[in-house]
Amino acid sequence: QSTYNFILTSRPEPNVSLITLNRPKALNALSTPLMLEINKALDEAENDADIGAIVLTGSERAFAAGADIKEMKDKQFAEVYTSDFLQNWTRITQVRKPIIAAVSGYALGGGCELAMACDIILASPTAVFGQPEINLGIIPGAGGTQRLTHAIGKSRAMEIVLTGRNFSAKEAEAWGLVSRVVGEGEGEVVKEALKMASTIASKGRISVQAAKEAVNSAYELPLGEGLRLERRLFHPLFATNDQKEGMGAFAEKRKANFTNN
Ligand code: CAA
Repeated sequence: QSTYNFILTSRPEPNVSLITLNRPKALNALSTPLMLEINKALDEAENDADIGAIVLTGSERAFAAGADIKEMKDKQFAEVYTSDFLQNWTRITQVRKPIIAAVSGYALGGGCELAMACDIILASPTAVFGQPEINLGIIPGAGGTQRLTHAIGKSRAMEIVLTGRNFSAKEAEAWGLVSRVVGEGEGEVVKEALKMASTIASKGRISVQAAKEAVNSAYELPLGEGLRLERRLFHPLFATNDQKEGMGAFAEKRKANFTNN
């Protein structure tokens, strides 16, 4: 297990990895060193055969208040362009295991984008989302203009990105950005996310990975191609023991015990 400076990692359930952003004084501003640590923790969870799902969270006050403005303030065009600044934000989208974002407090700018790069977002009633980059003379650079538009539609995304106004957990739920808003209470959103992650981790790993790949392709592919990919992922599952076990258990009226092969 690695040691980290800006995140905490733990395994609160036997098959679930919890990554907690931990830069409280900066409201979890997502500096490059912090993003590199997230990537490393994701690699560790991905390579750990015992882990079936990942939960990413922040603090009660802030999931993350955005990319680190102090780090970006004096950057020049040549530097950000030639180094492809923010390219280390793409690792999270390549993770094959499901990632649930448990959001309390501020999820602004890069914080909102980081949550949207996860597979599922659960929100505390205190969650505040937004893409305030326009107030800084820039635009979202880690997927905000794309993923927000996919999630909530053009008119709302335009309003949020162009005015820079924040939006509430309630709005995020009504617009379909988050799966649901959990009950009040400290730690509730993380508790719910861990419960959901445990449920997912109890399914067969191969079918979970295939399901994630198939749903994600709905973002990338035209319908016909997406349906083709779905079928191509569906058929080989009949070559797995988990399919035999899952359907066998149903026929025998017992709970399936998946062995991930
Ligand atoms: N980067 C760096 N530091 C940040 C930060 C950020 N994004 N957000 C907050 N902080 C720091 C503050 O500078 C402050 O540090 P000091 O104590 O050293 O001054 C500390 O966190 C606490 O913040 P505040 O005193 O501002 O706390 P508040 O409760 O008054 O306000 C807030 C909270 C409304 C979230 C406010 O901090 C804020 O507006 N933050 C910036 C939000 C933002 O613009 N995010 C977008 C960043 S750009 C981006 O993300 C680009 C991209 O697409 C990847």
